[in-house]
Amino acid sequence: MPRRRKRDIIIKGFSKLLKEDKLKIVAELMDKQVEAMDLMMSFWHSDNKVQKIFDEFSENTISNFYIPYGVAPNVLINGKNYLVPLVIEESSVVAAASSSAKFWLERGGFKAEIIDTVKLGQVHFLWKGDKQKLLSVFDELKTFLRGATAKITANMEARGGGILDFELIDMTDKIPDYYQLLASFNTKDSMGANFINSCLEEFSVALKSFLGDHELFEGEEKEPQIIMSILSNYTPDCVVRSWVECDIEELDNVDDSMTGEEFASKFQLAVRIAEEDVYRATTHNKGIFNGVDAVVIATGNDFRAVEAAGHTYAARTGKYKSLSTVELKDGKFIYSLTLPMALGTVGGLTSLHPLAKQSLEMLGNPSAEELMMIAASVGLANNFAAVRSLVTKGIQMGHMKIHLMNILNHFEATDEEKTKAVEYFIGQKVSFNNVRQFLNKTRNLEK
Ligand code: MEV
Repeated sequence: MPRRRKRDIIIKGFSKLLKEDKLKIVAELMDKQVEAMDLMMSFWHSDNKVQKIFDEFSENTISNFYIPYGVAPNVLINGKNYLVPLVIEESSVVAAASSSAKFWLERGGFKAEIIDTVKLGQVHFLWKGDKQKLLSVFDELKTFLRGATAKITANMEARGGGILDFELIDMTDKIPDYYQLLASFNTKDSMGANFINSCLEEFSVALKSFLGDHELFEGEEKEPQIIMSILSNYTPDCVVRSWVECDIEELDNVDDSMTGEEFASKFQLAVRIAEEDVYRATTHNKGIFNGVDAVVIATGNDFRAVEAAGHTYAARTGKYKSLSTVELKDGKFIYSLTLPMALGTVGGLTSLHPLAKQSLEMLGNPSAEELMMIAASVGLANNFAAVRSLVTKGIQMGHMKIHLMNILNHFEATDEEKTKAVEYFIGQKVSFNNVRQFLNKTRNLEK
């Protein structure tokens, strides 16, 4: 039996080790080292070529972490029906998205529109020069910056994208001598992070030489100090809106205990609470991201970027609020979600990850804009399902029903026990204890 490794040992050169050796080091931290190795290796892909792709996505890869890949059918958006791939570990999300999609399918489906697709990046720099002089040659600087990045932008321009504009942001009232060169971009169907960052790093070099060499600043301290150059994940001008609407009367059957009108006004109140109360807003928006993230992950996109932008956007007025809103007007229930989202359908993982590629094909190989509309609509679908449950039956009933399988798996229930449990728990409260009791009883009876 190999000796147990001490946890506090510093490991040098770990990244250079072979995968198997890294795995051994990790396994030495476990009680059952052989079993730990076997477990990790059992999640390796059987096709070495595929596994190599996954290994190379990241550093120090020793195994793969599985998350369920599900689909929500009947997601009707702008008259087009989608089967949407969702990658998510939380048991109720796919069911909620599907049930909401079906509900709205019968009421005209989701509508969605792109409000804009502008992405941003910043060169942050310190400069002691004369701002007015700089502004007087800003057009010249813009041309210079475009010229300096011509090689990087050629391909993007051929696809109809590229650099849109530049702005000088004076932040000297906050931090002495601090300015930003704010650049805007259209990255077409790519998320554009690499493109933007490459441009920005080139801008920073060009900015230095422009200011350093320009005769206008002769005799002044003219060289800027570049602090950093990076895209902003906040994209308040790369925004999608998705909405649903129906006659309030069409909500009559949502819940036996209330009329459509009562449901609509309780639902509206729940959303209003998420506009006023930051604790509720956080959970409300989390429910939106249940759906959004699941689509974003399934299509190989960056869910951290989408989340970060979404939460900043939710706080854009200075107060963190619900991202969705409800309007009751002229007998109509209008429910909408507006969200910034930087997505790509080319580049990045979208074609490298075999399942991301497949997800995009499942969606009919959408453009980035179409994918934004799909992700936002699924976010709205999940938000609707959550708030509908909350203002009617409560969340636990549906949640725990789906969670029943997780509890049964925890108790290592057999297929037969699972079938019996699913039948038994129709109309019964699902809880950890109740499932334990049910299984104990069933197992004792069977002895
Ligand atoms: C659970 O993942 C998400 C909900 O809490 C969202 C909400 O409360 O609106 C159900």
